[in-house]
This record gives sequence, C-alpha cells and structure tokens, in this order.
Amino acid sequence: MKKGLVCLLIVLMSSCGGRFTGLSGVVIDEGGTPVSGAVVRVQTTEVTTLSDEDGQFVLTDLPLGEEFFVTAWSPGFFIVGAEARPGDKKIVIELHSHAAEDNPDYDWLPSEFHPGAGEDQGCAACHSNVGSKDSTMLPVDEWLLDAHSQSAQNPRFISMYNGTDVNGNQSPPTRFGTSQDYGSFPLPPDLSKPYFGPGYKLDFPNTDGNCAACHTPAASVNEPYSIDPTKVTGVAAEGVPCDFCHKIWDVKLDPITQMPRPNMPGVLSYEFRRPPEGHQFFAGPLDDVAPGEDTFSPIQQESAYCAPCHQAVFWDTVIYNSYGEWLESDYRDEETGQTCQDCHMPSGLADHFALAEEGGLVRDPKTISSHKMLGVMDTEFMQEAVTMTTKADLSGEEINLEVEIFNDNTGHHIPTDSPLRHMILWVQVSDSLGNQLEQLDGPTIPDWGGNW
Ligand code: HEC
Ligand code: HEC
Ligand code: HEC
Ligand code: HEC
Ligand code: HEC
Repeated sequence: MKKGLVCLLIVLMSSCGGRFTGLSGVVIDEGGTPVSGAVVRVQTTEVTTLSDEDGQFVLTDLPLGEEFFVTAWSPGFFIVGAEARPGDKKIVIELHSHAAEDNPDYDWLPSEFHPGAGEDQGCAACHSNVGSKDSTMLPVDEWLLDAHSQSAQNPRFISMYNGTDVNGNQSPPTRFGTSQDYGSFPLPPDLSKPYFGPGYKLDFPNTDGNCAACHTPAASVNEPYSIDPTKVTGVAAEGVPCDFCHKIWDVKLDPITQMPRPNMPGVLSYEFRRPPEGHQFFAGPLDDVAPGEDTFSPIQQESAYCAPCHQAVFWDTVIYNSYGEWLESDYRDEETGQTCQDCHMPSGLADHFALAEEGGLVRDPKTISSHKMLGVMDTEFMQEAVTMTTKADLSGEEINLEVEIFNDNTGHHIPTDSPLRHMILWVQVSDSLGNQLEQLDGPTIPDWGGNW
C-alpha cells in the first residue's frame, strides 16, 4: 500500500516538474528488515525526513549540488550514510545496531594527542587544531582551557581533599569527641598547632570517599568508592575527559524529584555505553555524523545530562545545586527556557569540529557547540550574568545610594554550585573631581570578605 503511494508521489512529481530530482530509498537493518521512523537527512543540511512504516523515504527540495551524502539514524543504531545523486530512487541504507550494554573492561581513549599510538592516538589527532593550518578552536583546544580538563590537577581541589595548603603542608588529623547520645563527632581543630585548612583525608584517613565520582570520573566508573583522586594516572588524570562524556548514555534521576538521588553523585547516577572489544561508540548531538561508530543521543542537549555532577546532597546537606536551581527556575521551560548547554556551550563559534583532512565537514555554525564551558574565567560572560542598577538621591550634604543586582541572565542562583564561591559587592563612590566619598551608613564588607 504505502510503497504504491510513494511511487504515485514520485510519478506525480515527475509529471508536474519533469524529471524526479529528489532522492528516495529505503532504510533497513543488518537483517534486511525495514526500519521505520529513522531520521534520514542530506548530510549537514536541514533537508530531512522520517522513513515510513516500510522503511521508505523521499527527500525533495535538495540544495544545489551534484552529489550528496544521505545519512540515517534510528534509536539503537549507529548513524550510517550513503552517497547519492539527485534523482536516485534506490538508495539503500543499512543500519548496524550498537551494543545495548556497557562494557566495564573498556579502556578509555585519551583526549590529548599521543602520536603513533594507533587507536589510542587521542581525540586531539582529529579534534584539535594544534600542529595544523586550521585556525579554528576545535573541541580539544577549547576543553584544555575549561575547568573540566583540570579537575584532577586543580590545586584547590587536591588541597581540600588532603587537608593541606597548596605547598603540601597538612593539618593534623581531625579530633573526635564521643557523646553518649550521638556517638563519635568531630571537634574543631586545635589552633595552637599549625593548621592548613580542612580536608576529607583528615576526617576519614581510612577511606577514599566519593570525590572521584565527579572530579576524576573515568577512574571512578568501575570503583566509585575506592579511588583516591590525587593518585589517578593515564586518561583518568585528564579530569573529565572527552571519551567519558561521549560514552554517557543516560542519567538515573529520581522520578519524583527529577534530581540525582542523595549520595549518588557523578558516575553513580549515569549509565554508560562503553563498547565491546573491536568496536567504538561515540554518542553526540548530531544525527548525521558518519565517519564510523557514532550515534545520536538526545540527552546530550538536555540539562539532565549535567545533573549527576552538578547537583549533590550529602548527609541531608545540599552542596552543589546548579541543576536543582535551574529546575526550579523558568529556564527549564522547553519552549522559552534555556539549557545548561545553551549558555555554557554556546553554538555559532565554529563551522567545523574536526580537521578537514580527517573528515571534518563544513557545517552550519548553529549546529556546533563550544566546549569552552564558559565560567568565572571569562570576563565578558561574567559581566553579562547580572544587571546592576544604581539610584542616587541627594539630600543636603548626604547622598542616599541604592545599588541593586538583578539576576536576569543566569539560569540558576549567583553564585552557584561550589559553596566556596561568594559574590562580593564593592561600591566605590567619588565626586566629579574624583575624590572618594566617605561611607556614613549601610552595610560594609566583613573582614572575612578579604582586604578591599
Ligand atoms: C562535560 C562533558 C563533555 C566533555 C568533557 C566533552 N564533551 Fe563534547 N559534547 C558534550 C555535549 C553535552 C555536547 C552537545 C552540546 C549541544 O549540542 O548542546 C557535545 C558535543 C560534541 C561534539 C559535536 C559537535 C559540537 O561541538 O557540537 C563533538 C565532536 C564533541 N563534543 C567532541 C568532544 C571532544 C573531542 C572532547 C574532548 C576535548 C569533548 N567533546 C569533551 C559534552 C562533553
Ligand atoms: C563527570 C562529572 C561532570 C559532568 C558530566 C559535567 N561536569 Fe561540569 N564540572 C565538573 C567538575 C568536577 C567541575 C570543577 C572542576 C574544577 O574546578 O576543578 C566542573 C566545572 C564546570 C564549570 C565551570 C567551568 C569553568 O571553566 O570555570 C561549568 C560551567 C560546568 N562544569 C558546566 C557543566 C555543564 C553545562 C555540563 C553538562 C553539559 C557539565 N558541566 C557536565 C564535573 C562535571
Ligand atoms: C556531585 C559531584 C561532586 C562530588 C561528589 C564532589 N565534587 Fe567538588 N566540585 C564539583 C563541581 C561540579 C565543582 C565545580 C563547581 C563550581 O565551579 O562552582 C566542584 C568544585 C570543587 C572545589 C572548588 C574548586 C575551585 O577551583 O574553586 C573543591 C575544593 C571541591 N570541589 C572539593 C571536593 C571534595 C574534597 C570532594 C569530596 C569530599 C568533592 N569536591 C566531591 C562536583 C563534585
Ligand atoms: C581519526 C580522526 C578522529 C579521531 C581520532 C576522533 N574523532 Fe571524533 N569525529 C571525527 C570525524 C571526522 C567526525 C565527524 C565530522 C563531521 O561529520 O563533520 C567525528 C565526530 C565525532 C562526534 C560527533 C558525534 C555525533 O553524532 O554528534 C563525537 C562526539 C566525537 N567525534 C568524539 C570523539 C572523541 C571523544 C574522540 C576521542 C576519544 C574522537 N572523537 C576521536 C574524527 C575523529
Ligand atoms: C541562562 C544562562 C544559563 C543557564 C541556563 C545555566 N547557566 Fe550556569 N552560569 C551562567 C552564568 C551567567 C554564570 C556566571 C555567574 C555565576 O557564577 O553564577 C554561570 C555559572 C555557572 C557555574 C559556576 C561557574 C564556574 O566557573 O565555576 C556552574 C558550575 C554552572 N553555571 C553550571 C550550570 C549548569 C549545570 C546548568 C544547567 C543545570 C547551568 N549552569 C545553566 C549562565 C547559565
């Protein structure tokens, strides 16, 4: 029936517009069974359709050109493509399914370049512009500037894990008291001895904790409770590596709260698809990428993707909460809101994401997201985060000054996430000659806010 309809459509089109100038064909699986509902696309364009219940598709309104590459994707399969010329009616695209399970024996591939290492050469071999004529920042070049590539080395993290200062001087182990009612409880540090700040290892010298589940996740996936993040090596020491993020398949959130479950941080709330021996698996946001074993994964463009590492509650205390704050805001609205990726991985900065000589295609910049993960290191991004308004009323010799900060451009609270983050409002008032005016009344920055 449907086949007949498609033919009729093609006949009709040929009779109105002459020769059929579209593309048509069928999507099948490796056993030859038609795949319905597959997304079929002229690669890198918006010319797209879904295969019908017989796996058939017709693409019309083609862009100018003599040769095209038509790709198809359906859930559970890798993306596959086929060459085609306008007027082709018998394109056959055979999809291959990817493993439906994770493989814990998989060895992570490095992000950085390791020449001569075969498959282990690293993503940078194709996704970095270093050593090539290309001047566009590719994903690895951006990621190296982003905190995710530094999370295993970050001295503030390491010092807080070990309870040291940045020079490695360690505070004495935490002292514990006991109470008949509550059992053992930590006592404040003895400040008559040298003290270099708190640390996980001071409180719990005999366990490794779960810090690694987010800060060095590649090491933590198989052993979430027994990784000392300061001792990891190889790909794990790359922080949050490329391969890790592109093997994420799903997030395991509490269906009622829609948040990660308490005490299930990072890797504990993710599902992965590490491929079996002899195969690869890259999940990405595009459904028309076909150099190898790549697939499309809608979750890559959802805020929930970031949730397990950016929302965490320990012992009933909320520590990290960017995701929870976003979930409570209007930014979560699917129509009018914005996702974490929309703001932190903006699109439009590049027209390709892999080196041309390695198969990188020129694409619409709208479809390519930046891996800069804009944050506190980016002045422009920070300056646009809020709007500040000032109102001054002159009354006699005095000025009443009101400064208001309005969070109109940030998808969560300011500051957010790490509880070490603070925002300090420093107001300086001077007259037309540049003389500083003295503050007579109103709030001041407390001593612990630093020396201003
Ligand atoms: C913290 C997780 C994370 C890390 C680390 C990461 N990616 Fe991504 N990547 C994403 C997400 C999420 C998207 C999709 C963003 C969107 O479309 O909104 C993406 C998109 C992509 C794309 C599709 C094209 C584009 O830029 O939109 C490529 C290619 C890619 N990443 C490669 C890499 C490589 C190579 C690295 C290592 C340098 C890397 N990624 C590191 C999360 C990550
Ligand atoms: C495996 C856990 C993990 C995932 C997944 C993850 N992050 Fe992060 N993210 C971290 C850690 C850990 C840090 C802090 C690193 C540090 O400061 O040492 C961080 C830092 C950041 C920063 C600060 C960046 C900077 O350069 O200052 C931003 C912004 C951010 N993440 C956004 C995101 C977004 C958006 C996503 C989802 C697309 C995401 N993260 C996914 C763990 C993760
Ligand atoms: C749920 C995932 C998760 C876990 C578990 C986790 N962290 Fe973090 N950590 C993050 C994220 C995300 C950031 C970045 C937040 C930001 O930039 O505001 C961060 C930031 C930090 C920072 C601030 C870094 C900086 O440069 O400002 C320190 C210090 C830190 N974490 C220490 C720890 C320690 C110690 C542990 C274990 C006791 C731990 N974290 C466990 C996700 C996690
Ligand atoms: C030999 C070259 C090469 C290497 C090495 C390589 N890639 Fe790619 N990758 C490509 C090309 C080519 C594309 C597609 C480019 C296009 O279609 O514009 C691609 C596409 C992708 C995509 C997009 C998938 C989608 O459907 O959105 C992701 C994600 C990705 N690569 C991640 C990685 C990661 C992670 C690594 C390292 C572990 C890596 N790649 C190593 C060449 C490479
Ligand atoms: C509407 C845009 C917007 C959305 C949506 C958004 N953010 Fe942010 N984010 C910002 C801005 C602007 C800042 C800088 C101001 C601040 O520190 O709060 C920021 C700061 C951060 C920081 C601290 C920056 C740093 O360098 O450590 C983290 C972590 C972060 N966001 C994570 C997320 C996550 C995770 C999501 C999704 C749940 C998200 N953001 C959604 C705009 C956004």
